[in-house]
Amino acid sequence: MAGKPWGGRFEGGTDRRVEAFTESISFDRRLFRHDVRGSQAHARMLAKVGLLTEAERDAIVAGLSEIEAQIEAGDFPFVLEREDVHMHIEAALTEKLGDLGRKLHTGRSRNDQVATDVKLWTRDALDRVDRNVLELQRAFVRAADRHQGVILPGYTHLQRAQPILAPHYFLAFVEKLERDRGRLLDARKRLNVLPLGAAALAGTSIPIDREFTARELGFEGIAANSLDVSSDRDFAIESVFALTLIAEHLSGWAEEWVLWSTQEFGFLALPDAICTGSSIMPQKKNPDVLELIRGRTARVVGALTTLLVLVKGLPLAYNRDLQEDKLPLFDAFDTVESCVDLAAVVVDGANLRPDRINERLDEGYLDATTLMEHLILQGVPQRAAHEVIGRLVGLCERKGLKRLADLSDAELSEASPKLGPDARGILGVERAVQAFKSHGSTAPGEVAKQLERWKHKLEL
Ligand code: ARG
Repeated sequence: MAGKPWGGRFEGGTDRRVEAFTESISFDRRLFRHDVRGSQAHARMLAKVGLLTEAERDAIVAGLSEIEAQIEAGDFPFVLEREDVHMHIEAALTEKLGDLGRKLHTGRSRNDQVATDVKLWTRDALDRVDRNVLELQRAFVRAADRHQGVILPGYTHLQRAQPILAPHYFLAFVEKLERDRGRLLDARKRLNVLPLGAAALAGTSIPIDREFTARELGFEGIAANSLDVSSDRDFAIESVFALTLIAEHLSGWAEEWVLWSTQEFGFLALPDAICTGSSIMPQKKNPDVLELIRGRTARVVGALTTLLVLVKGLPLAYNRDLQEDKLPLFDAFDTVESCVDLAAVVVDGANLRPDRINERLDEGYLDATTLMEHLILQGVPQRAAHEVIGRLVGLCERKGLKRLADLSDAELSEASPKLGPDARGILGVERAVQAFKSHGSTAPGEVAKQLERWKHKLEL
């Protein structure tokens, strides 16, 4: 049992197969920086309460920094017998400092230690993703800015519905991402209480100072119930849920742009730098980045599901199942970070093709709803107005007319005496857009206001 921190109670060695089965060093080594930080804070706390001398504290802090540098440099031996990152670092410290290294674990258990490390890691990762999402918002605002004046057909059910301004379209994603950032921040706030000091489950008889450790590690408070601490992975689940919604948002966007970059739509030009070709069809240019962003969303949803099922039915305090939290947590962050990163590259590189969009913009009777509203404003009840315009659309279709504006004055006024010559003032996509008024609508003045607001808010 040489080297095992629980060796005292055991006889004989651990089965190699058990070591291989139970290890987590292959994936939790990523926590090394946070483990060092947590241990240094713990050592400072132990010195503060008089359980280490100042010289001992300094030796431990320096020894941990050296180990961190060694791991950083790829110059650190990882071995199966030492199971996880916490035991590796502590064992290396003991090799350096002898008995002094054995004092570090005073008043602490791996249960509160691992919870602390994973929280510290997640907090940094949340901050990183938040910065990436901010950059993506900026890319969407830049796209809104450079596509001013472009009108798009807006869709519901993927059927042509009403005209929208291109900046209005791009800013819709900025709003979704803003909610995403709110969720990241919210998860961070709730995460930010210190687990360390809960020890194994019941706390400790050692006179530790948890407030001190919390301040050292930038936590805003300390977890109030030691029994809650080691079974609490809410922060991981909440964070991954926030990531899942980001991934869902990106996936819907990617799907739309895959469609828009087809010959059939032709709305979008993607630069060569973000596309790939086909090994057999020389003419192909494929939107693989968008497809992979859409596809990788599956992994993030999978990670969330894994975490939820992992904690389902776990009794209180630490259970070894919890070691499995790191794989989905890391994978979800890695995946979403890179997707958000690449999404910004795509948004900055892609451009709408107003030539192609305009070719067919007057198809689909995009102005029908505005014409109906024109009747409503003259006192015609909505249901009746809807009926009138519906009949006019039917008439156009029977006559093979693409636009409501192609109907004669006589046909319009026959449908309703209230459809006089002034109705022409709102027919046609451009005029229909001008007619919008409501807050948050695609009205040019409203969209311009929103664009200004976002440019200011995101410092563009
Ligand atoms: N490697 C373990 C994990 O990641 C550390 C905690 C182990 N605690 C214990 N009592 N065995 O969860």
